[in-house]
Amino acid sequence: MKHLLKLEDWSTEEIVRALNLADQLKYEQKHGIEHKLLKGKTLGMIFEKSSTRTRVSFEVGMTQLGGYPLFLSSNDLQIGRGEPVQDTARVLSRFIDAIMIRTFEQSEVEALAEYGSIPIINGLTDYCHPCQVLADLMTIREFKGKLEGLKMCFIGDGNNMMNSLIVGALRTGMSFSAACPEGYMPPEHIQEFGKSYGDLFEIVTDPKEAAKNADVVLTDVWASMGQEEEKKIREAAFAGYQVNKELMEVTNEGCMVLHCLPAHRGEEITADIFEAHADEIFEEAENRLHAQKAVLVECLLDKKEEEKIQ
Ligand code: CP
Ligand code: NVA
Repeated sequence: MKHLLKLEDWSTEEIVRALNLADQLKYEQKHGIEHKLLKGKTLGMIFEKSSTRTRVSFEVGMTQLGGYPLFLSSNDLQIGRGEPVQDTARVLSRFIDAIMIRTFEQSEVEALAEYGSIPIINGLTDYCHPCQVLADLMTIREFKGKLEGLKMCFIGDGNNMMNSLIVGALRTGMSFSAACPEGYMPPEHIQEFGKSYGDLFEIVTDPKEAAKNADVVLTDVWASMGQEEEKKIREAAFAGYQVNKELMEVTNEGCMVLHCLPAHRGEEITADIFEAHADEIFEEAENRLHAQKAVLVECLLDKKEEEKIQ
């Protein structure tokens, strides 16, 4: 059974295959070519955190694929009242065909996969955001025509976005550099993963050093969902870790800027840089739809059926 629990679980071939399928589905969508590949399938979407893009793109994507998306807020589910995820997994497995979940603990996503008997897709945890990063890679490839040999730079918090970007960039032949303040670096095992790529990976504390000769710069909020109470401390720690005009001066000509959104102008990115790169950023947001449809097909469609469409 194929899940998307974290990007580390997908090989380079699996990532590239999903990106190719996403491109194909985007083309078909734009040209009015129906692709009801998941006709009759139901996707349960559990949200324990807020969402605009993930919720709407999964819901619309599943509908375009001929399936049925079922929005399940944790406020309404028994899970929100303490029913163990192990039981929820086994019950939902008997009703629906796959689960997309956005939650806090990565272990909750892993438990759903362990106890359930249907594909599980991670729609963001505190640890990672694989669906977003597939859309990011798709967008970079769309604008630059390739991934291999390009330099990705991330400025800010060693958070869920950065963890998945490290894996996504390095697995697809990009180099990766980041600037994070001391105390906000990604977890040790992700740094070890990066170091296994030798010179293609670096994490420093100086944003300009990280951004030098970058082909794409990404950033994310200073305080993620669930960290609202730390906002003031984080604002102080991240002052200077901003994507602005000065930083962009050291990047390669034509350097892209991406942001998973929501963005905080004046904090992690200035309004002028955000607006100068709005075409890229909103294409990235749109690509959530196409990339997630590819993930849904990869995880839900019978492999023999899928071979027929590729
Ligand atoms: N980028 C992203 O995941 O957006 P939402 O929080 O709106 O889903
Ligand atoms: N790091 C952010 C990403 C939002 C899409 C968060 O977890 O809130």
